[in-house]
Amino acid sequence: MNPLINRQIAFNLGSSDAWDIFAEHRRQVTSLLGDSSDQSRICVLGAGNCNDLDLATLVQTHQEVHLVDIDADALSKGTSRQDLANNAAIYLHGGIDLTGMMDLMNHWHPKSTLSPDDISAIIQAPMRCLEQLPGPFDIVASTCLLSQLIKIIVDTIGEDHLQFVELIQAIRMGHLLLLMKLITSRGQGLLITDVVSSDTYRELASVPAQSLNQVLVQLIRQGNFFHGVNPAIIVNLLRQDPILSQQVATLEPIGPWRWNLGPRHYAVIAVKIQKR
Ligand SMILES: C[S@@+](CC[C@H](N)C(=O)[O-])C[C@H]1O[C@@H](n2cnc3c(N)ncnc32)[C@H](O)[C@@H]1O
Repeated sequence: MNPLINRQIAFNLGSSDAWDIFAEHRRQVTSLLGDSSDQSRICVLGAGNCNDLDLATLVQTHQEVHLVDIDADALSKGTSRQDLANNAAIYLHGGIDLTGMMDLMNHWHPKSTLSPDDISAIIQAPMRCLEQLPGPFDIVASTCLLSQLIKIIVDTIGEDHLQFVELIQAIRMGHLLLLMKLITSRGQGLLITDVVSSDTYRELASVPAQSLNQVLVQLIRQGNFFHGVNPAIIVNLLRQDPILSQQVATLEPIGPWRWNLGPRHYAVIAVKIQKR
């Protein structure tokens, strides 16, 4: 199998039993997904083990809960762990590659050169998923997936490649365009992303909750954050990019909060997007 996909599966296996330590992160994510009408259909991109989703709450507040991930096993085991494997409101969409091009990316290496057509393909390829999903949805959330998609570039092309920044921008744009496209008119999007981890800021685990925002601002100023997920840049893109901004009615930055994954802690933020 594609090593890039194997890496995601291994990551999910490593955190599959992390239900208890995910409690605070799960509470944050689930409450953001809670706004709904009785008839709402929600879709979660990168649902994986579902440790960040209180599915029992979500099926009470939404008519349909669609869970999407490249790792089909993580989705089915995740719903079983919450005793909701056969719940009629939950729809699993496993084996879906939300980049639309993991097979091609697997052949990238530090000496690859990408043409302008290749860059356009990276932006457009995620749209292939539209045929595989019964959208549009009232609420669409991307849950700590963007950093994983960007990590593909770090792990294949590498940070020293001349096109590194251009490729990150293309992956991010492709993901934001897909997110917006999946949301129904006047629906809601939630881009939830991890921004930095205790791997590069050891004290993250012990920062008091009320100081986390201030610390994150400082870390971002120092350049200590994952490539491509600077919250201010994401908000600016949604506000100013000619295609994205047309679709956005309002934006609300939320967080940060802390996500305890056991071996490491992450600072996580969300951007709540109201679609026109
Ligand atoms: C950090 S995890 C999200 C946490 C997860 N919701 C949980 O509770 O454990 C990111 C998820 O994105 C999925 N993923 C990564 N790349 C993907 C891709 N190209 N297409 C679809 N899903 C992908 C991974 O399999 C993983 O489940």
